[in-house]
Order: sequence, then structure tokens, then C-alpha cells
Amino acid sequence: MILVTGASGHVGGELVRRLAEEGRPARAMVREPQRYAAPAGVEVVAGDLNRPDGLGPALEGVTGVFLLPGFADMPGLLERVREAGVAHVVLLTSRSVVGGKPDNAVVRMHLDSEAAVRASGTGWTVLRPSGFMSNTFQWREQIHAGDVIREPFAGVPIAVIDPYDIAAVAAAVLGRPEHYGQAYSLSGPEALLPEERAAVLADVLGLPLRFEGRPDDEARAEMSATMPAPYVDAFFRFFADGEFDDAPVLPTVEDLTGRPPRTFREWATAHAAEFR
Ligand SMILES: NC(=O)c1ccc[n+]([C@@H]2O[C@H](COP(=O)([O-])OP(=O)(O)OC[C@H]3O[C@@H](n4cnc5c(N)ncnc54)[C@H](OP(=O)(O)O)[C@@H]3O)[C@@H](O)[C@H]2O)c1
Repeated sequence: MILVTGASGHVGGELVRRLAEEGRPARAMVREPQRYAAPAGVEVVAGDLNRPDGLGPALEGVTGVFLLPGFADMPGLLERVREAGVAHVVLLTSRSVVGGKPDNAVVRMHLDSEAAVRASGTGWTVLRPSGFMSNTFQWREQIHAGDVIREPFAGVPIAVIDPYDIAAVAAAVLGRPEHYGQAYSLSGPEALLPEERAAVLADVLGLPLRFEGRPDDEARAEMSATMPAPYVDAFFRFFADGEFDDAPVLPTVEDLTGRPPRTFREWATAHAAEFR
């Protein structure tokens, strides 16, 4: 049985669908099961990753866990996972950790989660993806309100990855001892500027979208409304100060799944209805 945390999220959702398609026993963990529709054949369990002591029912009979990073007590959480007899944890972090500065709050959060999984005594694999194509959903409100997309860090190309491909890699490595002790950096197939993503989205949606860079001071104020200050600083260090180059294209998705990662056009086409 594979436990998928973050099952209502972009990556976990893709992973649950994939495991169901492959006919592998899967259990989807969410905090509010009544709001979650699982694919046929998938068990659903309630669980809060900030409360490791309550994870007993979620972990019962589980051999593999797909785990999100950054919860309150990652060492305690992984202790519960080990006690439950889980053989393999696949942890999602970020490729910002590769050469990242440990005093950057986002890098620190991911590094701490990776350290906890490495020290857990359970088999582990870490997936370090680039920025997600699904971050483009942040444009939904702007698209509903008009034809202008405004986005910060307009000059920064990112080899964005489809959560579908992160899930494909997770499914390919879960339960396979040859991947224990490995950390894989993952990317999409090409580096794109926000303006280039906007042009593809406009074409796919058939809308006359225009792109404008959002000035840094305006972006900082907006991000500060929803994010703690150390995280806002972390993103400015990444993309305004150039601490993190998320543009390199890597062969790992194809190496691990046997097929190239999906393009942004494929992602946009698959999710077009969610922008309408
Ligand atoms: N976005 C990027 O570009 C990017 C890049 C690299 C790495 N990452 C990492 O990817 C992760 C986000 O993945 P995603 O996009 O698939 O997720 P998402 O769509 O943002 O959804 C968040 C998920 O986390 C779950 N969650 C939140 N708090 C929880 C808690 N206390 N206990 C259990 N589950 C909880 C939510 O489940 P419920 O609310 O249903 O319980 C939901 O399924 C983040 O950890 C981020 O650091 C993101």
C-alpha cells in the first residue's frame, strides 16, 4: 500500500491518479476527506502532517510514502513512519537546494526536510523539481478580470515542470530499492520566460492575453500579504538577486520514466478548462 500525502494537491493528485491507473494499492491522505473525490479503487484517510501522533491509521499496512516537505516536526513525523514499518519514503523538495544558500528560508526548509528523511532509518529517495507549470494557475484571476497578465521576475527563465511528470517519477521509483539513497533533480523540457508561458496560454485558450512585468516593489507588497517575510525574501534572493538558476534542462524525467517531460503547451492544453 502506498500512502500519498498532499493527495488534493497538484503533484499528489497526479500521483494518486497514476497509481490507480497502474492498479497499485494507494491510500490518499487529506485533511478534509469530505471535500476530496478519490479515483475509483483508492482509499482515503484523514491526516495532518503537522500532527505526527495522529498518523497511525494513515500509516497502517503502508510500504511506501510520498511525502511533502516543510511540516512542523519532520524528524518526529519520520519516526512515526519508521515505527509503522514503511520501507520507502519519496520526499518532494526543490532543486533550489542544489548549491542553495542554507540561510535562505526556502532552501533551509527543504534541506531540513531532506536531513530528516536521510536520518530516518527508512529507505528514501528525494525528488528535487524545478518550478511547477501549475504555478500558472496564479494567473487565473487576472485572466478572468481582463486580458493583461502581470507577473514579477519577468526576466527570469524557468524550466518549468508538469506535476504530472514529478508524479510519474515518484511512481517509477516508489518501492524500488535501486533508487534508495538517491536525490534526483528534475526539470521540464525547456526554459521559458513568464511572457513566453503567457503567449502559449493565450494561444491555447484563444484569448488576446498581454504580458506586463510587475515591478519588484509592487510584487513584494503583494507577496507579503500571503507569505511570511523570510519566504518573500527567499524568493527575491532567488529571482531578483539571482541566487537560484532554475533554467537548466535536465534529462532525468526521461531517464527515470522512459519518456520526455511534457511541454508547457501540453500542460496548458490539459488544464485549459480550469482557466475558463
Ligand atoms: N510550486 C513550485 O514551483 C514548487 C517547486 C518545488 C517544490 N515545491 C514544493 O511542492 C509542494 C507543493 O506541492 P503541490 O503543488 O502538489 O501542492 P499544492 O497543490 O500546493 O497543495 C498543497 C497540499 O498540501 C496539503 N497539506 C497542506 N497542509 C497540510 C497538512 N498540515 N497536513 C497534510 N497535508 C497538508 C494539502 O492537502 P489538504 O489541504 O487537502 O489537506 C494539499 O494537498 C510544496 O511543498 C513546495 O515546497 C513547489
